Amino acid sequence: MEKKKLQLDKRDIYNYYTMIKLLGSGGYGCVINKSIKNKPYTSNYVGDITKKEFKNDEKKNKHISKIFANTEAYCEELIIITKILYKYHKMFNSIQLFNELSLPPKKCSSYLVLSNLEKYQEYEKKNLVLSKLKNFFKEKKNLETHDEKKETISECLIEKFDSDITNIKIHEIIYDYGGIQLDNIEINDYDFIKALIIMCKSLQTLHQLGFVHRDIKPQNILYNNDNYKLSLIDFGVCIPFNEVYTKKEKWWVDSGYFISPPEYNIIDKYNKYKNLDIIHSYYKNDDFYNKKKKEYDIFLNKYNNINNIEDIPEEIKKIAYKGDIYSLGITLLLLYNQNNIKITHENKELIMQKISNLINNMIITDPFDRYDLTDVVNDLFELEKLYISEIELNKYNDITCNEDIENITNTLSLLKIKGGGKIKSKKTKKTNKKLYKKPTKDILYKKFI
Ligand SMILES: Nc1ncnc2c1ncn2[C@@H]1O[C@H](COP(=O)(O)OP(=O)(O)OP(=O)(O)O)[C@@H](O)[C@H]1O
Ligand SMILES: [Mg+2]
Repeated sequence: MEKKKLQLDKRDIYNYYTMIKLLGSGGYGCVINKSIKNKPYTSNYVGDITKKEFKNDEKKNKHISKIFANTEAYCEELIIITKILYKYHKMFNSIQLFNELSLPPKKCSSYLVLSNLEKYQEYEKKNLVLSKLKNFFKEKKNLETHDEKKETISECLIEKFDSDITNIKIHEIIYDYGGIQLDNIEINDYDFIKALIIMCKSLQTLHQLGFVHRDIKPQNILYNNDNYKLSLIDFGVCIPFNEVYTKKEKWWVDSGYFISPPEYNIIDKYNKYKNLDIIHSYYKNDDFYNKKKKEYDIFLNKYNNINNIEDIPEEIKKIAYKGDIYSLGITLLLLYNQNNIKITHENKELIMQKISNLINNMIITDPFDRYDLTDVVNDLFELEKLYISEIELNKYNDITCNEDIENITNTLSLLKIKGGGKIKSKKTKKTNKKLYKKPTKDILYKKFI
């Protein structure tokens, strides 16, 4: 017995050393593929998930951990996600629908790594923090990374601490692993379109609840090969739509981010093509660039007399959510252009024509003429049909009651399985388990607040 335990521990340590990977990093800290194993000084399971359920998922390597070296950023992410999930819960009595769009957090924890740094000089502080962090994460250089992300977790975090720090807090939000960011993979067109339909419908729900994501781009959409699901992540700048054109949010409107919609340029007329210029550096198509510039001129001319964010007309403020549709359109443009979406359909030209029509409608300069998500979904449905044979499309159209009733129930149960993880796995017997493609525990049946 004793021996067995020892072996297990060894394996755990081995896994911990070899599998910990830096998935991404930003101004807040970084994202890694494992949760922190140390005991936190505060922690909370979110969405009413129990410790036991959480640990089960953890064993299955289902989690990723977003680590914040910056308390403010941690707090901001929690505030917006709480606001969003609270709205979902209030509206639908559960946060299940949010799961269709994204990944709700599962556990939030805070750790105290080290204190009493007063007596140390700046350079000593840095080394001390680095070694404590290294010990904390028990990390090794990640030899598996082939790209430019060469830093270790500690190196990545130490950058974020300021020098007059007296003790070091790090915070962690654990999410389900959601897959690979879209600009790093190749997906089959049909799988992508099906997943995109669900994502767009879910994004529409987010909008209807009054939020705008504001940061839709290939890096913030993940694709999970196991369940064919797209997840929109990174709600760091997501806000209620009526705050988009306010003084508090002017910094974002001014930022000239490449994925920002043209209506953000109503105030800053001198740099009106700034996001277009950046797009041009990715999507080097002069005809596109020149055509868009002309469209910008026509649109922005209508608002010549507006110079303050507060003076933006009410009708523009009301459709702030249309910015997300523009960003999603640019995202699709980049993905199709960079061959992240592999066209498998035999009539490649037809597909590309339809996709380019859709994209053009999503990135129309004037937000009033731009597609709504209802239009996007309709177009995607039409596209999807091109991949399905007439027979498949009409397969169940003429089922009647004269048919073998068992056949009908069989068909129904098949459809359920195809839905993947939608069946409540209420402590199912072992024999039934293999019927489900991926028995995922659905935390969303549980109450959030
Ligand atoms: N749930 C997840 N599953 C898999 N990978 C993830 C997950 N969350 C984040 N990542 C990876 O980490 C990267 C960074 O995460 P995220 O977008 O949340 O932070 P960020 O863009 O660095 O943050 P911010 O923009 O707020 O500074 C993502 O682009 C993705 O590659
Ligand atoms: Mg991001």
